Amino acid sequence: MKKVILAYSGGLDTSCAVKWIHDTYGAEVICFSAFLGEVSNPKLLAKKARSAGASKIYIEDLKDEFAQDFIRPALWAHARYEGKYFLATALGRPLIAKHLARIAAKEKADCVAHGCTGKGNDQIRIELGVKAFNPKLKIIAPLREWAFTSREEEIDYAKKHGILISATKKSPYSIDKNIWGAAIEAGVLEDPWKEPPADAYFMTRPLHRVPRNPFDVTIGFKAGLPVSLNGRQMTFVSLIEKLNELGGRYGVGRLDQIENRLVGIKSRELYEAPAATILHLAHEELEGMVMDREFLHYKRVLSEKYSELVYFGLWFTPLREALDRFFATHQKNVTGEIRIKLDRGHAIVVGRRSPYSIYSEKLATYSKKDEFDRTAAEGFMKIWGLPYEGKAK
Ligand code: ARG
Repeated sequence: MKKVILAYSGGLDTSCAVKWIHDTYGAEVICFSAFLGEVSNPKLLAKKARSAGASKIYIEDLKDEFAQDFIRPALWAHARYEGKYFLATALGRPLIAKHLARIAAKEKADCVAHGCTGKGNDQIRIELGVKAFNPKLKIIAPLREWAFTSREEEIDYAKKHGILISATKKSPYSIDKNIWGAAIEAGVLEDPWKEPPADAYFMTRPLHRVPRNPFDVTIGFKAGLPVSLNGRQMTFVSLIEKLNELGGRYGVGRLDQIENRLVGIKSRELYEAPAATILHLAHEELEGMVMDREFLHYKRVLSEKYSELVYFGLWFTPLREALDRFFATHQKNVTGEIRIKLDRGHAIVVGRRSPYSIYSEKLATYSKKDEFDRTAAEGFMKIWGLPYEGKAK
């Protein structure tokens, strides 16, 4: 092994990993930090990487690519793992993997490395992603190999080797965050009966601190993509960021979930996803206005499968691509506006309109304007119920 590209967060684990890989494998270590929405100081990040012995660091803002190529398809798929989790972390990993492989090719490195633990899903997503681009790359996961068994040992190691680590007190939780949401686990949260302490959430306010008056947001969609907020055109990324702020202020988008990891264990995770909650609600509602029943019902079956693929690290696969084409097929009709009320932890659809709407007031109304042919209903019943006549016991 000569050269390793390490996915670098600037945290204690990956900082120790720089030095550890260098010493254990005698390799040059190049760091790669991708910004998917978490707040980081690039100068400090570079300083930390160098203090740990990195020969070079790539810092790249990938928010646009993340939104366009990962969040957009997941939104169109209405992807939520086990019906709940919006997959923020799971969607970010294949993107990081893709760029690890790209930088490895550019730097002529023979190896990549990451700071995922040996019992999580993220190692699977990153490693399968890297292999999809270049199966010849070796992959090192220091956290599966090294002898450290506690944070204190890592801190001692960092101090001994002059590795710069953050002075700020470490959160009692393990957090992963990007523009599509935050995942919070470990510490006291490992007891599934214990209510999460107030400090566990940081994107959304608790209900006793939300504004008293509700707030309406109107989201404009064009061909499936959200393009405006309350009449103002916005880029996809800035719209997501704005909805995180607004939704967060109203306490929208919290989840407390026990989920089934691919590695066989159940884990408890808290999620905060204000923008994802609002945009899923809006997109589903608008699609519901413009698409027919059979399409909508069958799509739910495929959404379930799609969410599993994403969660299980199977992003770069033929089935995921094929499903994306399915979900994309009718997005041009998903054009229009959805009005949502943010009200004390809730996001509630209160209005919808679309030039492609197939909702017909003339057919739905109970007033004089009714054009539905009630006389045809009798025959419909005769035929629809035919196989079951006399079947009740
Ligand atoms: N459980 C989520 C997933 O598998 C998030 C994983 C990362 N969570 C964390 N708190 N660091 O996608």
